Amino acid sequence: MNDIKRIGILTSGGDCAGLNAVLRAVVLRAAGHGWATIGIEHGTLGLMQTPPRAHRLDPVDFDGALMRRGGTILGTTNTGDPFAFPQRDGGTLDRSQEAIAGYRALKLDALIAIGGDGSLAILNRLARQGDINLIGIPKTIDNDIGATEVAVGYDTAVQIATEALDRLQPTAASHRRVMILEVMGRDAGHIALVAGIAGAADVILIPEIPYRIEHVVARIRAIYDAGRDFALVVVAESVRNEAGDKIVQKYAGGQSRYGGIAHFLADRLAETTHAEIRATVLGHVQRGAAPGARDRLMASVFGAHAVDLIEQGRFGRMVAWRDRNIVDIAIDEAVAVPATVDIDGPIVRTARSLDICLGDR
Ligand code: F6P
Repeated sequence: MNDIKRIGILTSGGDCAGLNAVLRAVVLRAAGHGWATIGIEHGTLGLMQTPPRAHRLDPVDFDGALMRRGGTILGTTNTGDPFAFPQRDGGTLDRSQEAIAGYRALKLDALIAIGGDGSLAILNRLARQGDINLIGIPKTIDNDIGATEVAVGYDTAVQIATEALDRLQPTAASHRRVMILEVMGRDAGHIALVAGIAGAADVILIPEIPYRIEHVVARIRAIYDAGRDFALVVVAESVRNEAGDKIVQKYAGGQSRYGGIAHFLADRLAETTHAEIRATVLGHVQRGAAPGARDRLMASVFGAHAVDLIEQGRFGRMVAWRDRNIVDIAIDEAVAVPATVDIDGPIVRTARSLDICLGDR
């Protein structure tokens, strides 16, 4: 046993479905130990403010409604790296001491960070520098954290992408069109691959498998020649153009994000097939929904186990789901290797055995 009294919690990086359910699980479990939970607002931004922006979270706040809601009631940021905090002039500033001071000012005995690999790596560095008792909980729709089979938010994003295909199929059939759906996932093709299989796509393009446009064209022609005059294509946002270049959108402040490969493909396919083609970019719709049952479950399992790790004094760990069990791994190790799609694995094999075109043949 240790003498924990107050734990902090923050959400960091892009939001996703299930974050409020994690907060609920942590608050309920911590209250069971008699501890107070302090919610830090807008991730590291709240820690770096003087005084820190934070408020107490109590079981009474979680009356059953909040865990069903998308987003995060604490707010988050994916531009709050305290070691390289962006400045107006385009430079960066090391504000790590301010973040550490925020942890101390809040009189926290431990900190739970709900984040993706980037956020957890940064916060782990901060924890080392500032002697912070850190526990990580994995969340990301991209599901690219190698140490866990599943991260909070992924399952709901896949569900949304699958539902998008369910809605594209009738309109594709009505208009005899090829519908191209672009989904998120950053540098991993998990959402595209799984939603593509679940949503009965004809073609799935993922960054892990280089494609040739002629293979995609041949598949679409074959579908039309066989008498079905519509097709569904799913493409992961980080699939590159034929020259191997990333396709990105630029945003104010110098930010750029993947986006636009669906329209690139639509143009290329229009040149080489007679089919009418439309592109849909699903975007942040994949993040904002109410969490599905599996995300609520993982949020609950992860949240409760994170608190138990604090109780055991086992810090610097990330909770993870492996082989139908809850485990924990050193954060360094957990974020070291990103999990992209295993191109020899069972899901790719399934896609091939269902004769889904993956663009490489
Ligand atoms: O990492 C989650 C994610 O949604 C990616 O799939 C996507 O590429 C990126 O974040 C979008 O970032 P932003 O919310 O900054 O536009």
